[in-house]
Amino acid sequence: MLKKEQNDLLTQTDSGTPMGELFRRYWLPVLIAHELPIPDCPPVRVEVLGECMLAFRDTSGKLGLIDEFCAHRGVSLWFGRNEHDGIRCPYHGWKYNTKGQCVEVPSEMGTGFCERIKLKSYPLIECGGVIWVYMGAPERQPPAPEYEFATLPTEHSYMSKRVQACNWLQALEGGIDSSHVSFLHSGSLNRDPLFKGAKGNQYNESDKAPVFEVTDAPGGLFVGVRRNAEDDQYYWRITPWVMPCYTLVPPRGDHPVHGHFWVPMNDHTCMAWSLDYHPTRTLTAGEREAMEGGAGVHVLVDDNFHPLQHKDNDYMMNRELQRSGVLYSGIEGIGMQDASLQESMGAISDRTRENLVSTDNGIIMTRQRLMKAAKALAANPDFALPGLAAEHQHVRSAAVLLRRDLAYKEAAKDALQAEAGKPHQTV
Ligand code: FES
Ligand SMILES: [Fe+2]
Repeated sequence: MLKKEQNDLLTQTDSGTPMGELFRRYWLPVLIAHELPIPDCPPVRVEVLGECMLAFRDTSGKLGLIDEFCAHRGVSLWFGRNEHDGIRCPYHGWKYNTKGQCVEVPSEMGTGFCERIKLKSYPLIECGGVIWVYMGAPERQPPAPEYEFATLPTEHSYMSKRVQACNWLQALEGGIDSSHVSFLHSGSLNRDPLFKGAKGNQYNESDKAPVFEVTDAPGGLFVGVRRNAEDDQYYWRITPWVMPCYTLVPPRGDHPVHGHFWVPMNDHTCMAWSLDYHPTRTLTAGEREAMEGGAGVHVLVDDNFHPLQHKDNDYMMNRELQRSGVLYSGIEGIGMQDASLQESMGAISDRTRENLVSTDNGIIMTRQRLMKAAKALAANPDFALPGLAAEHQHVRSAAVLLRRDLAYKEAAKDALQAEAGKPHQTV
């Protein structure tokens, strides 16, 4: 349970809030690379940390993220014409470059007026099949992200994203709560093409009272969860959380590893990023097809990344499949099983009213780390934030069988360390 001030601190990310300033120190994923495929392609709206922005790729191929609204009289530049190294407002023809600098005001040519007009802008970079934004002070811009998937050729990975109608934190909290898998996703583990067939699934299904052991990691936490296995062993699933909003699902068999970013769009909406990657091989055509079809952690969405299953159609809930147990909650798809329940908690979950138990330890510790870091940063802008250094990002999830007397953090140390060419440890 949290006090109201603590809930506010954790969930508010507009400019000037402590958590908003923390988020502004990291590269955040905003676009899948193919959203801006070629020079002068259509611009794309980006809402992130409560700011409405417009992304475009100019004639020379440069990426820009600028204020969505024209400095003249506030028209959305999404309607603009992307032409000759700039985006031109279709209302009266004011034109801006990728840095937000106004380069032409047709009614005031030759007066120097346009030089005084500049829209807010942030740098974008492309790596790992993702376009990332940095929204903090320019002198504190960190090096490019080095999460393992971003260091691999893009043939090893697949990205999707979906708008989720709730605050970022309750979406993140689902990502580190391994205990719900034995319930909510139980029907899907052996049906979904990106989950089925793994030996680990049987431990998830046979032991519904997992024990959590959460340990510190340089960039955040390792959320270790053990279930009973045969021969005096435990089946461990270890989920890394890297500050502020990156989580990795432990693998199953030789399936690709799933991961997520939970990026605030505003305080009531987040962009749930789902990614799959395999550290040592390219994805197969069959895997890609399954991901595109909404299997695994992916979801079918419309052109604006809104899921086809949503609150207004009751997420296409099927009571018959719920009753028979084919789908534990009656909702199809692992991603929508999570989203439907998390959205039902309200736009911002009221954490003053919850009753937490031992399986919520990962959530409790994540909140503590976030609050501590946001306060430390507010008191000292030089505070070394966890998750910024490359080595903090070089982590992996793992699923391992270990003797019961072994501590996972030591015994699975190598499995949790990302390294080029090293197979991941999975059951
Ligand atoms: S509102 Fe954009 S040019 Fe007038
Ligand atoms: Fe889930």
